Amino acid sequence: MPVDACQALLCWYAVDKRSLPWRAGPGKAPDPYRVWLSEVMLQQTTIAHARPYFETFVHRWPTVEALAAESDGEVMAAWAGLGYYARARNLLACARIVADQLGGRFPEDEAALRRLPGIGAYTAAAVAAIAFGRRAVAVDANVERVVARLFAVEAPLPSARAAIRDHAERLTPEENAGDFVQAMMELGQTVCMPRRPDCGRCPLTPHCAGYAAGDPGAFPVKAPKAARPRREGVAYWLEHRGRVLLVRRPQKGLLGGMLALPTDGAPAEAAWREAGAVDHVFTHFALTMRLLCAETDTPAEGIWWPVERIGEAGLPTLFAKLAVRGSEWRRAA
Ligand code: ADE
Repeated sequence: MPVDACQALLCWYAVDKRSLPWRAGPGKAPDPYRVWLSEVMLQQTTIAHARPYFETFVHRWPTVEALAAESDGEVMAAWAGLGYYARARNLLACARIVADQLGGRFPEDEAALRRLPGIGAYTAAAVAAIAFGRRAVAVDANVERVVARLFAVEAPLPSARAAIRDHAERLTPEENAGDFVQAMMELGQTVCMPRRPDCGRCPLTPHCAGYAAGDPGAFPVKAPKAARPRREGVAYWLEHRGRVLLVRRPQKGLLGGMLALPTDGAPAEAAWREAGAVDHVFTHFALTMRLLCAETDTPAEGIWWPVERIGEAGLPTLFAKLAVRGSEWRRAA
């Protein structure tokens, strides 16, 4: 980007940037713990959705040491509803390495950051730039869109990714790397939006090849997506004296490490009744899960959670939706 375009972007950001809870106040240095936590939460998740989770986490665990000392179950439950639960498992693993082996300090350079659990190329670059001011190229979907429009990249995603990254690399200034990264993301979120780019408000319009070509919204070009397969499953709502049976899912696999209703066959012999079904969309497939409900007089070993307080169990969204059905079945029964 010509120097004046970069300046225009940074000026726009200095004036228009949103006040977000992980951003440093004026004249203050950013807190690497908050930057890292926000970047992990914002992977695949919007700011609006992640923000209350961020507030809860930094309130309960204000430092990386505090987070590292927490039990797995509490952190997984606090993550419930954010999705992509491998992020929460890696978050804890990373916090424990930083707290126990690195004296509570996050590494400052990208290569060292990348060796930590849950930190890929994007997150390493974002943390290096935003927390430590290192020149680093962090390309998320927002930056990808801004760059694809700015250079009118004709090749479709995902194969255009390498070219887009090269453009982003050349755009990145030596100084102000953290502001530059966040300015690009914010421009993508608030001005250069997926459907209706607001070119009248964009500091880069005079430099934008997509705008000059007449239809910036046509970029990035996308290869057609394969249809999402649909799968079906059954979950079991087993009650005993006002409590419902929960299980902790295996660490590996879908919703790993989270509390859930049993899905691996009926947990007891009982008069199972159908109580409807719930649809839920995961990244690689859509799921329709039927719910079977029953009471038992002979409860087996397990986690028996009070039905009245099921909202506090920290169930992932699919199971929280099923639990609503289960509680309704109980009231109707
Ligand atoms: N998305 C990911 N990180 C972000 C940040 N620091 N600011 C705005 N959006 C983001």
